[in-house]
Amino acid sequence: MSFLSVRDLVVHFPTVDGVVKATEGLSYELDRGKTLGIVGESGSGKSVSSSAILGLHRGTNAQVSGEIFLDGVDLLKINDESIRRKRGREVSMIFQDPLSAMHPYYTVGNQIMEAYRIHHDVSKKQARARTIEMLERVGIPQPDRRVDDYPHQFSGGMRQRAMIAMALINDPGLLIADEPTTALDVTVQAQILDLLQDLQREFNSAIIIITHDLGVVAEMADDVLVMYAGRAVEYGPTKEILVHPEMPYTWGLLSSVPDVVGDTDAKLIPIRGNPPSLLSPPPGCAFHTRCDHRDKVPGDLCRTTVPELTPARAGGNHTKRCHLANPDEVYATEVLPEIAPETLEEQG
Ligand SMILES: Nc1ncnc2c1ncn2[C@@H]1O[C@H](COP(=O)(O)OP(=O)(O)O)[C@@H](O)[C@H]1O
Ligand code: SF4
Ligand SMILES: [Mg+2]
Repeated sequence: MSFLSVRDLVVHFPTVDGVVKATEGLSYELDRGKTLGIVGESGSGKSVSSSAILGLHRGTNAQVSGEIFLDGVDLLKINDESIRRKRGREVSMIFQDPLSAMHPYYTVGNQIMEAYRIHHDVSKKQARARTIEMLERVGIPQPDRRVDDYPHQFSGGMRQRAMIAMALINDPGLLIADEPTTALDVTVQAQILDLLQDLQREFNSAIIIITHDLGVVAEMADDVLVMYAGRAVEYGPTKEILVHPEMPYTWGLLSSVPDVVGDTDAKLIPIRGNPPSLLSPPPGCAFHTRCDHRDKVPGDLCRTTVPELTPARAGGNHTKRCHLANPDEVYATEVLPEIAPETLEEQG
């Protein structure tokens, strides 16, 4: 069994308007030292499915089923006290907006020290020394002075560095980074991603990076899981998915970000329409309302039947959820010439 093994995870939220099906039968595996990128548009269930690992649904009315094994223990089966002890110690999370995750009235240093002292029986002095060491490690200049700053005295990039220091101070096996660079400018974004990669090598952590940006995935992730309307629609090694994508939604994501397929002059083609509401997602393939290829599928299958997650035609431990019989041919002849004409010319 992998270090992290998520099996058939379902997260539903009953509301007055009906049931929000935020996660439907999600399964994936992740080992230490490896990075999984979870990608999809806003509202596809990325945050909900990942925060279930930390048990953040507890105390809400969420209906959760499935299994989440971390180091052999099913996190959905243990009691609240046990999950609290693991939170921050065995699994940590960093968010898009560190300002909202930090308390404005306490210094950055105090908050990181507290995160350390919850799990370690050490003096304040020892915790402070460890905090300064971590701040230095994540690239905060003059950490012995900045440790006493308040969050608002840090720039956005420095706050994210401080959050990373706080998340890693207890050396957790799993780090979940939920859109960690979305609020940052491109240069700082690249620095933070580099830092995460360095720290991963040092701590041998498993990382889940949640993003709507396939560029981030291309740089960081060993494996990619593409989510649409609460479901995995394509899953496999990053190289496989970027070179041989077989699900039209993934094609849409690839077409709408610059430079991932390796063609700087390619035009960006946004996916038409909007992601569906998870209160009443479309029947059949939830993507059918936006898919340009559904007419290639015989009968009314796309509109009536949810496709199973099946092995990709290209093989290689890669699965996709789509009724198309020849997705590899459609991608090569129709999609690639649109999004990366240069790449094809180079190949002759
Ligand atoms: N506590 C909740 N109650 C009801 N619906 C929720 C709750 N939390 C999240 N949702 C819904 O679950 C869906 C998935 O949300 P989320 O995982 O945050 O998406 P993503 O991170 O991919 O943008 C959204 O439709 C969101 O509105
Ligand atoms: S199942 Fe049909 S609608 Fe869904 S992505 Fe495949 S072709 Fe498009
Ligand atoms: Mg989210």
